[in-house]
Amino acid sequence: MIRSIKGMRDILPPSSAIWNQVEATARRIFSRFNYGEIRTPLLEETALFARSVGEETDIVSKEMYTFEDRDGSSLTLRPESTASVLRAYIEHRLDQQPGLQKLFYVGPMFRRERPQKGRYRQFYQIGAEAIGSDSPAIDAEVIELVIEILRALEINNFELLINSVGTHESRARYNEALRAELKDLAPRMCEDCRRRAVTNPLRVLDCKVPEDQPIINALPSILDYLDEADREHFRRVREFLDDRHIAYTVSPRLVRGLDYYARTTFEITHGALGAQNAILGGGRYDGLAESLGSKVPAPGIGFSIGEDRLILAVEEARTVQPQTLDLYIAPMGDAALRHCVLLAGDIRRLDVSVEVGTGGKLKRMLEIANKLSARYTLIVGDNEIVSQSYALKNMISGEQETLSLQGLMEHFQKLRVVAHA
Ligand code: HAM
Repeated sequence: MIRSIKGMRDILPPSSAIWNQVEATARRIFSRFNYGEIRTPLLEETALFARSVGEETDIVSKEMYTFEDRDGSSLTLRPESTASVLRAYIEHRLDQQPGLQKLFYVGPMFRRERPQKGRYRQFYQIGAEAIGSDSPAIDAEVIELVIEILRALEINNFELLINSVGTHESRARYNEALRAELKDLAPRMCEDCRRRAVTNPLRVLDCKVPEDQPIINALPSILDYLDEADREHFRRVREFLDDRHIAYTVSPRLVRGLDYYARTTFEITHGALGAQNAILGGGRYDGLAESLGSKVPAPGIGFSIGEDRLILAVEEARTVQPQTLDLYIAPMGDAALRHCVLLAGDIRRLDVSVEVGTGGKLKRMLEIANKLSARYTLIVGDNEIVSQSYALKNMISGEQETLSLQGLMEHFQKLRVVAHA
């Protein structure tokens, strides 16, 4: 038997209905904040991620699905979307459009991580990027936007962590300080840390090895290496958040596992998720566009929600309602089946969900109607076809009424009006 690939899963009804609801809610909030959708390819040149996310990150060094195409070029299934959005921004000269470019995306990402609850090799992100301004007001607006999405989904049990990793220059100074500090400490650390202590010391802070944590906790704080402008930017981001009464914790270790960040970084964790508790992460990436070849500066900030984790949190907060069926039609015999499929077509055009039994014993069909929680059933035999009168049974009240074809159509028309009201 062929099974799905490890870490990649099928999303089935009724859960898929929750996914659609969550995405519809996010889209509604995105449009309130004037974001438009961008769809980028799943495959990109490997160099795009190596240059932006960074060679020394876990994502690029261990987790990407990279392969050689038939013409010898190296392609990668996208592990994240920010790099792709920036590539598209530069490629399509979106800097020449008026105002900020506010773009959102929904779709699968691929990382070859060890699968567990909330961590998959194909996972989904709902993300947004606001490109074209370095104003701290935008940082706060992006954070407000993502919190609005969580609130609209009735998720409350979350915590916002924020930090500033400074501009490229401040971070370079911090990296030097870490390098000096780690010179004596690294030999006592794991293999990755020993290498990163030399190549990219900031990434030592991403280490998850328990024995290394006491050493990491005693390392200098990045906040002490921010310059005056970074500090002022971070102060204003916090001020804008305070104005909105958005609660946060400043977390100086929050350097995030991607190299492109500059200044603000943030993450939201959720209580119900266990070890993989980061429901979303984001931050500012001023300078990234230039490093990808943009002639003009394109400072930006964004976030990506881990949709799989968001769904776990939503399912925790409320029970999943199975999809409901409005009408089940049970045809008695072949002639009735031919009549019923046409009748079903007419009723479906009224925006009513209809299932037609495939024939066989009436008792069996009514059992199926019950299992499907159909609101109404209609039994159609030769008599009904000749007399054009139908016995419609309300499965909730048990009441039955006899209706003409027109009466039947009017009944379901009204039902829709009520359901849409
Ligand atoms: P990230 O922190 O790598 O950031 O991923 C964002 C979120 O995606 C995580 O917080 C988590 O919820 C989810 N996630 C990551 N890996 C997995 C996985 N293997 N299985 C399930 N969920 C996962 C980014 O991707 C950046 N592009 C965020 C960003 C946008 N920064 C600026 N703009």
